Amino acid sequence: MTWLITGGAGYIGAHVARVMAAAGEDVVVLDDISSGVPRRLPGDVPLIKGSSLDAELLRRVFAEHDVTGIVHLAARKQVGESVEQPLRYYRENLGGLTTLLEAAAEAGVRRFVFSSSAAVYGNPPDVDLVSEDTPCVPVSPYGETKLAGEWLVRAAGRAHGMATVCLRYFNVAGSASPELADTGVYNVIPMVFDRLTRDEAPRIFGDTHPTPDGTCVRDYIHVSDLAEAHLAAARRLASADGGDLTVNIGRGEGVSVRELVTLIGEVSGDRRPAVVEPMRAGDAPRAVADASLAARELGWAARRGVREMVDSAWAGWCLHHPGAPRV
Ligand SMILES: NC(=O)c1ccc[n+]([C@@H]2O[C@H](COP(=O)([O-])OP(=O)(O)OC[C@H]3O[C@@H](n4cnc5c(N)ncnc54)[C@H](O)[C@@H]3O)[C@@H](O)[C@H]2O)c1
Repeated sequence: MTWLITGGAGYIGAHVARVMAAAGEDVVVLDDISSGVPRRLPGDVPLIKGSSLDAELLRRVFAEHDVTGIVHLAARKQVGESVEQPLRYYRENLGGLTTLLEAAAEAGVRRFVFSSSAAVYGNPPDVDLVSEDTPCVPVSPYGETKLAGEWLVRAAGRAHGMATVCLRYFNVAGSASPELADTGVYNVIPMVFDRLTRDEAPRIFGDTHPTPDGTCVRDYIHVSDLAEAHLAAARRLASADGGDLTVNIGRGEGVSVRELVTLIGEVSGDRRPAVVEPMRAGDAPRAVADASLAARELGWAARRGVREMVDSAWAGWCLHHPGAPRV
């Protein structure tokens, strides 16, 4: 039984490939290396360089590697870019998924794990915890491709006897080792690192939200915990005969931007106060996962805290940015 991991040379995919391989699963990675880094993968994990949009290649990979399950992470993921290039996001994210599902159905693949995102909820309503029943109202083409992706996965699963799991990741952070760190600057932790490295104060957008310290509250999940959630999903599917599951993957605990900036100051040694900018239109005050369904259905719960995320993210940042200030 072999798992095909698409996007396995990416930040999250490389953690998933390592965790699954270390747990004794046979894995093979497909990645077009558009943002992936081959050396993130251990030497014994085969890497096929190619796209999920290439139907002919997929047929060959399924046959040659006897693929029986898929973990599909390959996608474009930048919200702002998706607003500027919606057609590209629909073509690559949904075109890639459709091509992969068609080839999988044709090859009789019976298990499918899909990387979804809390972006499917858009700016969630004023609730303490966002459950899987919270209405999905994505606010970017990126989020739309994730929500429509879930529909495709469930529909294809039902029609072709494929058991499926959609994992809605909350805010992913940290790394298992500095070499595996995320090198992009697309979310709050690397954005603060970037400001400090440029000798600038961190920025906080709005401190008058209806939250305890007035700044936005989010749910951060360590990428190693997230990788373990994929293993739990794969193990569940290995014993499943059809059916679908859609679950939040978060810690179920909120951390405010102010708390995060303070923690980054402690870890980096650069404790300069943050500058408060006007709040951004549409930023939900609070978005924290109800993670109870994942615990019940996957037997999985996050084990690592936010300090570990910031520590490991900072170690990765310093490796990739030798000029960063040191403690
Ligand atoms: N990073 C996050 O905070 C986050 C949150 C929610 C969901 N996600 C989802 O998780 C997945 C992985 O994200 P990541 O942060 O590791 O991003 P990443 O850019 O590091 O990884 C994506 C990988 O997919 C590859 N890829 C992209 N398009 C491809 C294609 N058509 N065919 C083959 N390979 C392709 C890239 O080369 C890269 O290695 C994505 O689906 C993303 O939308 C990420």
